[in-house]
Amino acid sequence: MTEFVSVVRGVGGHLPSKVLTNDDLAKMVDTTDEWITARTGIRKRHIAAEGETTSDLGAIAAKKALDAAGLTPDDIDLIVMATATPDYTFPATATIVQHKLGITRGAAFDLQAVCSGFVFATATADNFLARGQFERALVIGAETFSRILDWSDRGTCVLFGDGAGAMVLERQTKEQAGDKGVKGIHLRTDGRYRDLLFVDGGPSTTQTVGQLRMVGNQVFKHAVGKISESVMESVKQAGLQVKDIDWFVPHQANQRILSAVAERLGLEEHKVVSTVAEHGNTSAASVPLAMAAAIEDGRIKPGDLVLIEAIGGGLAWGSALIRV
Ligand code: ACO
Repeated sequence: MTEFVSVVRGVGGHLPSKVLTNDDLAKMVDTTDEWITARTGIRKRHIAAEGETTSDLGAIAAKKALDAAGLTPDDIDLIVMATATPDYTFPATATIVQHKLGITRGAAFDLQAVCSGFVFATATADNFLARGQFERALVIGAETFSRILDWSDRGTCVLFGDGAGAMVLERQTKEQAGDKGVKGIHLRTDGRYRDLLFVDGGPSTTQTVGQLRMVGNQVFKHAVGKISESVMESVKQAGLQVKDIDWFVPHQANQRILSAVAERLGLEEHKVVSTVAEHGNTSAASVPLAMAAAIEDGRIKPGDLVLIEAIGGGLAWGSALIRV
């Protein structure tokens, strides 16, 4: 049987045009620009306009990823969409994006792993491609977290924003791929920690959408240890070492978490891609948004070894090593 590898062809990101600064937030809740910047590194976030949906953002990011890959929607036969803020309870937002892109073949489905969604979606697409079941996948992370925030809770509303990112993964033979492709993946969840980060509504419980609730300092403590362990597992699985990593593209939740994980792993600060100041925590969209930014500005180059990681509600966490 032919052995296949999943290779990154293109990455794209999209942020809605409306911007909410820390100073804007200080007019809404009891907070300051100084507090938010010092505790999180976030300076602003983007907010979807009325009527602008997760699928709208996701479809634009997907088009940008296709452009970067030099491909068209007709080349795609799989969409794996990570989102915790779907357009509707059903159908899957992925099918709405599929329709917006004009794709009428293959399969599209949503995946729910909150902030870790992009890592879980990458792992899922990689498995389908490696088995030869699909040819080219759009892996999308898209969110409108502004719709599930309690805008009177200063402990959470200052942290999150809306946005989308997408990556085209292509099935290639080992000969075609050379050294490129997804090298190692580690996924974990532990439902005992549900109460640390969750949304207090849903179809089967309250029949409402609900709002995000979080014990921030507890999540923080879990984040640093669990992510560091996960990265070590991915690196081991790939038969590589931490020093081989060219770029660390973490979930953009909080600058302090990013820096603490990099320090624990012994990764130099200049290898860390941080865009959290620009858009806050966009959940499943944050990793591809950061990756797209670092490819666009020329930092990440073909052949570089990129580490992606995330942790979020569940708790769910994971990491992946990809040579781009
Ligand atoms: N402005 C001013 N003061 C605030 C604010 C605010 N926006 N928010 C909280 N405070 C206050 C608290 O009330 C508390 O006051 P007190 O000491 O009088 O009680 C004080 O600041 C310290 O609160 P802590 O929660 O201990 O502050 P901490 O340093 O832990 O920072 C933060 C809080 C930024 C939330 C941090 O814990 C964090 O980033 N945690 C990780 C969160 C995260 O990454 N979540 C996303 C995971 S992804 C997903 O799945 C969605």
